[in-house]
Amino acid sequence: MNKKTVSTILNMKSAKRKISMLTCYDYAMSKLLSSQDIDVLLIGDSLGVVKLGYENTLPVTVDDIIYHTKAVKRGNSGALIAADMPFMSYEISAADAVGNAARIIKEGGAEAVKIEGGIEIIDKVKAILDAKIPVMGHLGLTPQAINKFGGYKVQAREDAAREKLIADAKALEEAGVFSVVLEAVPESLGKQVSEILAIPVIGIGAGKYCDGQVLVIDDMLGMFTDFTPKFVKKYADLSEIIKNAVKNYADEVRDGKFPAEENVYK
Ligand code: KIV
Repeated sequence: MNKKTVSTILNMKSAKRKISMLTCYDYAMSKLLSSQDIDVLLIGDSLGVVKLGYENTLPVTVDDIIYHTKAVKRGNSGALIAADMPFMSYEISAADAVGNAARIIKEGGAEAVKIEGGIEIIDKVKAILDAKIPVMGHLGLTPQAINKFGGYKVQAREDAAREKLIADAKALEEAGVFSVVLEAVPESLGKQVSEILAIPVIGIGAGKYCDGQVLVIDDMLGMFTDFTPKFVKKYADLSEIIKNAVKNYADEVRDGKFPAEENVYK
Protein backbone atom coordinates (compact mmCIF):
# COMPACT_ATOMS: atom_id res chain seq x y z
CA MET A 1 0.00 0.00 0.00
CA ASN A 2 1.50 3.37 -1.02
CA LYS A 3 1.96 5.91 1.75
CA LYS A 4 -0.53 8.73 1.33
CA THR A 5 0.71 12.28 1.50
CA VAL A 6 -0.84 15.72 1.35
CA SER A 7 -0.37 15.62 -2.46
CA THR A 8 -2.26 12.32 -2.66
CA ILE A 9 -5.21 13.90 -0.87
CA LEU A 10 -5.11 17.05 -3.02
CA ASN A 11 -4.96 15.03 -6.23
CA MET A 12 -7.93 12.89 -5.24
CA LYS A 13 -10.22 15.86 -5.86
CA SER A 14 -9.15 16.34 -9.48
CA ALA A 15 -9.27 12.56 -9.97
CA LYS A 16 -12.84 12.67 -8.57
CA ARG A 17 -11.96 10.04 -5.97
CA LYS A 18 -13.76 10.46 -2.65
CA ILE A 19 -11.57 10.80 0.45
CA SER A 20 -12.23 8.60 3.50
CA MET A 21 -11.05 9.98 6.82
CA LEU A 22 -11.59 8.64 10.34
CA THR A 23 -10.44 9.80 13.72
CA CYS A 24 -7.99 7.52 15.49
CA TYR A 25 -6.33 7.76 18.88
CA ASP A 26 -4.32 4.60 19.54
CA TYR A 27 -1.95 2.01 18.09
CA ALA A 28 -4.29 -0.98 17.80
CA MET A 29 -7.04 0.98 16.03
CA SER A 30 -4.50 2.66 13.77
CA LYS A 31 -3.28 -0.77 12.60
CA LEU A 32 -6.85 -1.86 11.88
CA LEU A 33 -7.92 1.33 10.11
CA SER A 34 -4.86 1.80 7.96
CA SER A 35 -5.05 -1.87 6.88
CA GLN A 36 -8.40 -1.00 5.29
CA ASP A 37 -6.99 1.76 3.09
CA ILE A 38 -8.41 4.72 4.99
CA ASP A 39 -6.92 7.84 3.38
CA VAL A 40 -6.49 10.09 6.42
CA LEU A 41 -6.25 9.27 10.13
CA LEU A 42 -7.11 12.30 12.26
CA ILE A 43 -6.01 12.54 15.85
CA GLY A 44 -8.98 14.76 16.62
CA ASP A 45 -9.41 16.69 19.83
CA SER A 46 -12.67 14.72 20.03
CA LEU A 47 -10.41 12.36 21.98
CA GLY A 48 -11.12 14.61 24.95
CA VAL A 49 -14.78 13.57 24.85
CA VAL A 50 -14.72 9.97 23.56
CA LYS A 51 -11.49 8.81 25.24
CA LEU A 52 -10.92 11.08 28.24
CA GLY A 53 -14.53 11.68 29.27
CA TYR A 54 -14.48 15.50 29.24
CA GLU A 55 -17.74 17.31 28.56
CA ASN A 56 -16.26 18.98 25.46
CA THR A 57 -12.95 19.34 23.60
CA LEU A 58 -11.75 22.47 25.41
CA PRO A 59 -9.54 20.82 28.08
CA VAL A 60 -7.48 18.88 25.50
CA THR A 61 -3.80 19.88 25.53
CA VAL A 62 -1.02 19.82 22.97
CA ASP A 63 0.60 17.09 25.11
CA ASP A 64 -2.58 14.97 24.87
CA ILE A 65 -2.52 15.31 21.06
CA ILE A 66 1.18 14.43 20.89
CA TYR A 67 0.74 11.37 23.13
CA HIS A 68 -2.07 9.95 20.99
CA THR A 69 -0.44 10.92 17.68
CA LYS A 70 2.69 8.94 18.61
CA ALA A 71 0.56 5.84 19.23
CA VAL A 72 -1.35 6.24 15.96
CA LYS A 73 1.88 6.81 14.07
CA ARG A 74 3.29 3.48 15.35
CA GLY A 75 0.28 1.54 14.04
CA ASN A 76 -0.18 3.31 10.72
CA SER A 77 0.85 1.86 7.39
CA GLY A 78 -0.47 3.99 4.52
CA ALA A 79 -2.72 6.80 5.76
CA LEU A 80 -1.85 10.47 5.97
CA ILE A 81 -1.66 11.43 9.64
CA ALA A 82 -3.25 14.75 10.58
CA ALA A 83 -3.63 16.00 14.14
CA ASP A 84 -5.79 18.68 15.70
CA MET A 85 -4.43 21.90 17.14
CA PRO A 86 -6.34 22.03 20.44
CA PHE A 87 -8.19 25.02 21.89
CA MET A 88 -5.87 27.93 22.76
CA SER A 89 -2.84 26.35 21.11
CA TYR A 90 -3.00 28.82 18.19
CA GLU A 91 -5.32 31.71 19.09
CA ILE A 92 -2.94 33.79 21.20
CA SER A 93 -0.18 34.54 18.70
CA ALA A 94 1.30 33.33 15.43
CA ALA A 95 4.49 32.41 17.30
CA ASP A 96 2.49 30.21 19.68
CA ALA A 97 0.65 28.62 16.76
CA VAL A 98 3.88 27.76 14.93
CA GLY A 99 5.56 26.48 18.12
CA ASN A 100 2.64 24.19 18.97
CA ALA A 101 2.17 22.96 15.40
CA ALA A 102 5.90 22.22 15.27
CA ARG A 103 5.67 20.12 18.46
CA ILE A 104 2.78 18.11 17.02
CA ILE A 105 4.87 17.40 13.90
CA LYS A 106 8.29 16.89 15.55
CA GLU A 107 7.28 15.06 18.74
CA GLY A 108 4.00 13.44 17.66
CA GLY A 109 4.95 12.55 14.11
CA ALA A 110 1.87 14.07 12.45
CA GLU A 111 2.24 15.09 8.82
CA ALA A 112 -0.32 17.90 8.92
CA VAL A 113 -2.29 19.86 11.49
CA LYS A 114 -5.98 20.75 11.51
CA ILE A 115 -7.08 24.11 12.86
CA GLU A 116 -10.57 25.47 13.53
CA GLY A 117 -11.60 28.85 12.14
CA GLY A 118 -11.50 31.15 9.12
CA ILE A 119 -10.51 34.75 8.42
CA GLU A 120 -10.06 35.56 12.14
CA ILE A 121 -7.13 33.10 12.41
CA ILE A 122 -5.72 33.45 8.90
CA ASP A 123 -2.46 35.06 10.13
CA LYS A 124 -1.83 31.98 12.29
CA VAL A 125 -2.66 29.63 9.40
CA LYS A 126 -0.20 31.50 7.16
CA ALA A 127 2.52 31.42 9.82
CA ILE A 128 2.15 27.64 10.23
CA LEU A 129 2.23 27.16 6.45
CA ASP A 130 5.34 29.39 6.23
CA ALA A 131 6.97 26.97 8.67
CA LYS A 132 6.46 24.23 6.04
CA ILE A 133 3.68 22.51 7.97
CA PRO A 134 0.64 21.46 5.91
CA VAL A 135 -2.67 22.72 7.30
CA MET A 136 -6.22 21.39 7.07
CA GLY A 137 -8.93 23.96 7.82
CA HIS A 138 -12.15 23.32 9.78
CA LEU A 139 -15.31 25.40 9.31
CA GLY A 140 -19.01 25.20 10.20
CA LEU A 141 -19.67 23.69 13.61
CA THR A 142 -16.21 24.10 15.10
CA PRO A 143 -16.52 22.33 18.49
CA GLN A 144 -13.89 24.54 20.15
CA ALA A 145 -16.40 27.42 19.77
CA ILE A 146 -19.05 25.51 21.77
CA ASN A 147 -19.44 28.31 24.31
CA LYS A 148 -19.88 30.90 21.55
CA PHE A 149 -22.42 28.73 19.68
CA GLY A 150 -24.27 27.73 22.88
CA GLY A 151 -24.41 24.05 21.88
CA TYR A 152 -23.72 21.66 19.03
CA LYS A 153 -26.08 23.19 16.46
CA VAL A 154 -26.22 23.08 12.67
CA GLN A 155 -24.38 26.16 11.38
CA ALA A 156 -24.80 28.61 8.49
CA ARG A 157 -28.52 28.21 7.85
CA GLU A 158 -28.97 31.97 7.32
CA ASP A 159 -27.76 33.78 4.18
CA ALA A 160 -25.29 36.02 6.03
CA ALA A 161 -23.70 33.06 7.82
CA ARG A 162 -23.50 31.13 4.53
CA GLU A 163 -21.70 34.05 2.88
CA LYS A 164 -19.32 34.35 5.83
CA LEU A 165 -18.51 30.64 5.68
CA ILE A 166 -17.85 30.82 1.93
CA ALA A 167 -15.54 33.83 2.46
CA ASP A 168 -13.71 31.89 5.23
CA ALA A 169 -13.31 28.86 2.97
CA LYS A 170 -11.90 31.01 0.15
CA ALA A 171 -9.50 32.75 2.53
CA LEU A 172 -8.22 29.40 3.81
CA GLU A 173 -7.72 28.13 0.27
CA GLU A 174 -5.90 31.33 -0.73
CA ALA A 175 -3.67 31.03 2.33
CA GLY A 176 -2.64 27.55 1.14
CA VAL A 177 -4.44 24.93 3.24
CA PHE A 178 -4.63 21.56 1.46
CA SER A 179 -8.20 20.70 2.51
CA VAL A 180 -11.07 21.89 4.65
CA VAL A 181 -13.29 19.93 7.05
CA LEU A 182 -16.87 21.20 6.94
CA GLU A 183 -18.99 20.22 9.91
CA ALA A 184 -22.77 20.29 10.47
CA VAL A 185 -23.99 22.60 7.72
CA PRO A 186 -26.90 22.20 5.28
CA GLU A 187 -26.14 19.84 2.40
CA SER A 188 -26.67 22.62 -0.16
CA LEU A 189 -23.83 24.60 1.45
CA GLY A 190 -21.57 21.52 1.52
CA LYS A 191 -22.19 21.20 -2.21
CA GLN A 192 -21.60 24.89 -2.91
CA VAL A 193 -18.31 25.05 -0.98
CA SER A 194 -17.09 21.81 -2.60
CA GLU A 195 -17.80 23.31 -6.04
CA ILE A 196 -16.17 26.66 -5.27
CA LEU A 197 -12.93 25.32 -3.77
CA ALA A 198 -10.25 23.58 -5.84
CA ILE A 199 -8.98 21.84 -2.67
CA PRO A 200 -10.88 18.89 -1.12
CA VAL A 201 -13.77 19.58 1.23
CA ILE A 202 -14.19 16.77 3.75
CA GLY A 203 -17.65 16.73 5.27
CA ILE A 204 -18.99 15.62 8.62
CA GLY A 205 -22.70 16.33 8.59
CA ALA A 206 -22.26 18.41 5.42
CA GLY A 207 -23.98 16.05 2.99
CA LYS A 208 -23.06 13.74 0.17
CA TYR A 209 -21.62 16.25 -2.31
CA CYS A 210 -18.41 16.87 -0.35
CA ASP A 211 -15.13 15.52 -1.75
CA GLY A 212 -14.74 13.20 1.22
CA GLN A 213 -16.24 12.24 4.58
CA VAL A 214 -14.95 12.01 8.13
CA LEU A 215 -16.48 10.40 11.21
CA VAL A 216 -15.38 9.93 14.80
CA ILE A 217 -14.35 6.26 15.02
CA ASP A 218 -16.01 5.68 18.40
CA ASP A 219 -19.30 7.01 16.99
CA MET A 220 -19.32 4.91 13.82
CA LEU A 221 -18.37 1.74 15.70
CA GLY A 222 -21.03 2.32 18.36
CA MET A 223 -18.41 2.56 21.13
CA PHE A 224 -19.37 6.04 22.34
CA THR A 225 -23.02 6.15 23.34
CA ASP A 226 -23.37 9.31 25.49
CA PHE A 227 -24.88 11.13 22.49
CA THR A 228 -25.03 10.47 18.75
CA PRO A 229 -25.36 13.31 16.24
CA LYS A 230 -27.80 12.85 13.32
CA PHE A 231 -24.93 12.73 10.82
CA VAL A 232 -23.41 9.59 12.38
CA LYS A 233 -24.04 6.23 10.76
CA LYS A 234 -23.30 3.34 13.12
CA TYR A 235 -21.47 0.69 11.12
CA ALA A 236 -21.24 -1.61 14.15
CA ASP A 237 -22.55 -1.84 17.70
CA LEU A 238 -19.32 -2.59 19.53
CA SER A 239 -20.61 -1.41 22.89
CA GLU A 240 -23.11 -4.34 22.96
CA ILE A 241 -20.44 -6.78 21.75
CA ILE A 242 -18.02 -5.60 24.45
CA LYS A 243 -20.65 -5.71 27.19
CA ASN A 244 -21.62 -9.29 26.25
CA ALA A 245 -17.98 -10.41 26.14
CA VAL A 246 -17.21 -8.84 29.51
CA LYS A 247 -20.35 -10.35 31.06
CA ASN A 248 -19.37 -13.81 29.76
CA TYR A 249 -15.86 -13.39 31.17
CA ALA A 250 -17.07 -12.24 34.58
CA ASP A 251 -19.64 -15.08 34.73
CA GLU A 252 -17.00 -17.67 33.79
CA VAL A 253 -14.54 -16.36 36.39
CA ARG A 254 -17.23 -16.50 39.06
CA ASP A 255 -18.31 -20.01 37.98
CA GLY A 256 -14.72 -21.27 37.86
CA LYS A 257 -14.99 -21.99 34.10
CA PHE A 258 -12.13 -19.65 33.20
CA PRO A 259 -9.27 -20.41 32.94
CA ALA A 260 -9.96 -23.71 31.19
CA GLU A 261 -7.40 -26.50 30.61
CA GLU A 262 -6.11 -24.86 27.40
CA ASN A 263 -5.35 -21.58 29.20
CA VAL A 264 -3.14 -23.13 31.88
CA TYR A 265 0.66 -23.85 31.87
CA LYS A 266 1.48 -27.44 32.80
O1 KIV B 1 -11.91 16.36 16.69
C1 KIV B 1 -12.40 15.72 15.76
O2 KIV B 1 -12.60 14.51 15.83
C2 KIV B 1 -12.76 16.45 14.55
C3 KIV B 1 -13.57 15.69 13.54
C4 KIV B 1 -14.95 15.55 14.01
C5 KIV B 1 -13.50 16.30 12.21
O3 KIV B 1 -12.45 17.58 14.41
